[in-house]
Amino acid sequence: MMWRYYMPTAVFFGQGSVQKNSEALSEAGTKALLVTGKRSARVSGALHDVTKALTVQKMSYSLFDEVEENPSFETIRRAAMLMNREACDLVIAIGGGSPLDAGKAIAMLAANENLSIEQLYDDPDRWPAYSTIAVPTTSGTGSEVTQFAVLTDDEGNKSGISATRNFPVKAFLDPVYTTTMNEHVTISTALDALSHAVEGELINAGANPLVKSLASKAVATIKGTLSSVLSSPDDIQMRGELQYAAMLAGMVIAHTGTSVVHPAGYPLSVHKEIKHGLANSLFLVGVLRHVSRKEARRVSNAIEPFASIEELEAFLGSFGVYDLMPTITEEEARDWSAAVVNSSHYKRTPGDFDREFFENLYKRAGGK
Ligand SMILES: [Fe+2]
Repeated sequence: MMWRYYMPTAVFFGQGSVQKNSEALSEAGTKALLVTGKRSARVSGALHDVTKALTVQKMSYSLFDEVEENPSFETIRRAAMLMNREACDLVIAIGGGSPLDAGKAIAMLAANENLSIEQLYDDPDRWPAYSTIAVPTTSGTGSEVTQFAVLTDDEGNKSGISATRNFPVKAFLDPVYTTTMNEHVTISTALDALSHAVEGELINAGANPLVKSLASKAVATIKGTLSSVLSSPDDIQMRGELQYAAMLAGMVIAHTGTSVVHPAGYPLSVHKEIKHGLANSLFLVGVLRHVSRKEARRVSNAIEPFASIEELEAFLGSFGVYDLMPTITEEEARDWSAAVVNSSHYKRTPGDFDREFFENLYKRAGGK
């Protein structure tokens, strides 16, 4: 068996990881642009810790705190202009998946002043990028250890830039930050991570044993800890396990990418305000059932240690996922299913899907 694995991010994990490693922040650049959303970076204390660490290191910084959920091209353009105007050479992205992904794209666009964002999607490894440091405040996206930046274009379509230079150079994971997530966000982000691990292993199918190990550990940990985290949201140990699992699941998709479950869910986040992880959960079981018709073993290996698709479905259902399915019109089902089959995820997902499958999936409310 021959395989390779690449993930160049230096990970600092544990309580106080930012404060205790302030020199590691300043080594990565001379002036930082801090990229955050409106709320979680502040409420979690992460922004405070980062600015304090930068002050200790006598490193200057500017702040861009306007990243919205499902970050738009327009936001990236504005922040990249600010980055250049302020002569920053490092992005420190703090928050959930949206600020982290936005941070990577800003670091790339700012380093390519003559290019449009659209051009960055074209052969992304061609372009230089400033370094990014990631400080996650949720435990789901795994963006702190991936090369992906998922953005929403001017027409409202979500798609990702995948570039090796998008891997954060460093990631600081402190489970304390994740205790400020409310129950809804905790569930959504954890189920996003679960989806990453299952989808990634569905694609990997054991070909890379490291990826298989990362995926099963992530699934087992989320299965074993999510309910406990919800009943004891301030338990740092349990929050740390969930954050660790989300990072492992990120390392899985850094190698495999995600499956059709992700683009199937994207329109629900953009048009129906369903959080990303919940949107994935609505379609995960329907996709797995379809693959399982021809490749039952492949699916049962990907969902381990869940013993069956039904057990996974019951687990997702126990968090109220299936109550969230929005009304989808015929026209939406038609347009969205066309977008799914045009995505890069479609090509890498096993199971011989076609457009009709996704049209039905949308109409049948999650394939149930
Ligand atoms: Fe995701």
